[in-house]
Amino acid sequence: MLRLKIFAKLAAATSLTALVCMSANAQDRISDFSLVDADGRFFQLSRNAHKNAIVLLAYDMESRDARRAAGDLEDLAEQFADQQVDFLVINSTGLADKTVMREEAEDEDISLRILMDDTQLVAEELGLTRAAEVAIIDPQASAVVYRGALSSRHADGSRSERNAGSYAEEALTAILAGGEISSETLASTGDALDFTAKTAFLESVTYADDVAPILEQRCSACHQEGGVAPFAMESHQMIQGWSPMIRESLMTKRMPPGQIDNEYVQAFHDINHITVEETQKLVHWIDTGARNEGSTDPLAALDISPAKWLNGEPDMIIDIPPQQIPATGVLEYRNLVVPLDIDEDVWVKAVEFEAGDPAVLHHIIAFSYGPDGINQFEILNQGIGLGAYAPGNELNLYPENAGFPLEAGGGLLLQMHYTVSGKETVDASQIGLYLWEEEPEKVVLGGSAADMDIDVPPFSTKEMVATKTFREDVYLSMLGPHMHFRGYDANFKLRYPDGRVEEVLNIPNYQFNWQKVYDFKEPMFLPAGTELVFRGTFDNTEYNPNNPDPSVTLNWGEQTWQEMFFGFFRYTEADSGE
Ligand code: HEC
Repeated sequence: MLRLKIFAKLAAATSLTALVCMSANAQDRISDFSLVDADGRFFQLSRNAHKNAIVLLAYDMESRDARRAAGDLEDLAEQFADQQVDFLVINSTGLADKTVMREEAEDEDISLRILMDDTQLVAEELGLTRAAEVAIIDPQASAVVYRGALSSRHADGSRSERNAGSYAEEALTAILAGGEISSETLASTGDALDFTAKTAFLESVTYADDVAPILEQRCSACHQEGGVAPFAMESHQMIQGWSPMIRESLMTKRMPPGQIDNEYVQAFHDINHITVEETQKLVHWIDTGARNEGSTDPLAALDISPAKWLNGEPDMIIDIPPQQIPATGVLEYRNLVVPLDIDEDVWVKAVEFEAGDPAVLHHIIAFSYGPDGINQFEILNQGIGLGAYAPGNELNLYPENAGFPLEAGGGLLLQMHYTVSGKETVDASQIGLYLWEEEPEKVVLGGSAADMDIDVPPFSTKEMVATKTFREDVYLSMLGPHMHFRGYDANFKLRYPDGRVEEVLNIPNYQFNWQKVYDFKEPMFLPAGTELVFRGTFDNTEYNPNNPDPSVTLNWGEQTWQEMFFGFFRYTEADSGE
């Protein structure tokens, strides 16, 4: 859509403009990036590659210029409605609190989508330095094609010296016509964005003291020799070689995988997470050459031999029948039926998984069945069953005093997901069960807010909501969304009997590949009548990189190329009077 000659023209115009502070270097290639917006929704540049242009306005709540510019941007958005142009506001002041931003948007009447650039890394990537400044991206070329004031109203020195006009509008018109961008590029009058908060600590970042410990803590559980990830973070040399990919995986929030919204990280056990500060440190270290100035390499010295049975020797060890895993190809989920040799009912206190070959074992979900055999409906009602394995998440604990019942004469149904490693192998994994000596006070119960009536037309997206009302007082202890390849985002809210609504978990970028469940650190008390509201979006468009076929209508089905819509949960009944 954009031709090279436009770049040339723009560059020429730039050099003629003496007033320019922020030059519109029209060939500024940018990396793909992802951000969460003020409503907790996910935005990724590459998923918008089909748009003609993406316009981003740097916002700062302290800046009057920015507020006015936001209003003007709304007008511009109306003018270019239906032209496949996205108009977005981006808060790059480092503000992470979405509630504050939402309140501001309401006060200021901003209806455009507001991206939260909490690491400020996207502002840096786009070259945004001032409030009220605009960057226009050509998403196909992954390039910033215009950067500067929105219009003469927001331009430095413009009133006296320049003709009134909307520079962004002119640039957009030119882009849409495939013609020349004739507008001159002027710097915005907005205040400089404050990047100082992070520059101080970034200057002192070193490989040995900062980078290696972050990688060790956040990545090496999977990125180790024999681990599930494709390369081992075992030396500085390795990291330096992979650093462009590492940078992109951080900018797009792809790694660590299965990230949830910041505000909920503290509420759950064992969340794959990387903080704002850690991300900034890694990206800046990579941007300055990814060097190791010191003489030591903590990653090379790392002892990665995994501990077996973190919870101590289990009461019962179940050998999963060994699985042949080919060297290449995509493997369908395998469902294994494993009868248990128990002649009386037992109560499970905790479950731990031991991966046989962590390089290929991606996840296991363990369900139980009783003496009457497997009943699909009962299985679905177990939510996520006894527990789940994912790399770095071997141990599953239940709330205190609660047990998961296993009936005599029954067994386990295991859903196994393997990926290939390039080498043929046999996976012989084990499950360790820790049992209560006698029947515990409470039973671990499971269920789901589900809707089987799925109907998503080809090449479209659809949001769905399913609810489940608790009839008794309960303690909610786990949440887990389940969709397939078209699952895009997932969200859980509680609607209390008094009408109050509380969001409890938001997953802006749902990834089917990571069947995550979320165990509350403190189970939540829900009074009888509380409704769990599970919301999720299906993305059946061609812009979903995981979509096997956007041309089909999606309906309910067990195969991964069909869809499911489950908001699983686990709970225990509360004692009366609690
Ligand atoms: C829970 C396991 C796990 C953790 C933790 C993890 N990775 Fe990965 N990583 C993977 C897997 C598996 C892949 C292969 C691609 C896939 O399945 O998404 C991968 C792929 C990658 C790639 C290759 C490019 C790509 O996007 O496919 C990079 C780079 C990467 N990871 C960086 C990191 C960094 C940096 C961290 C820590 C901040 C991290 N990973 C943490 C499992 C993990």
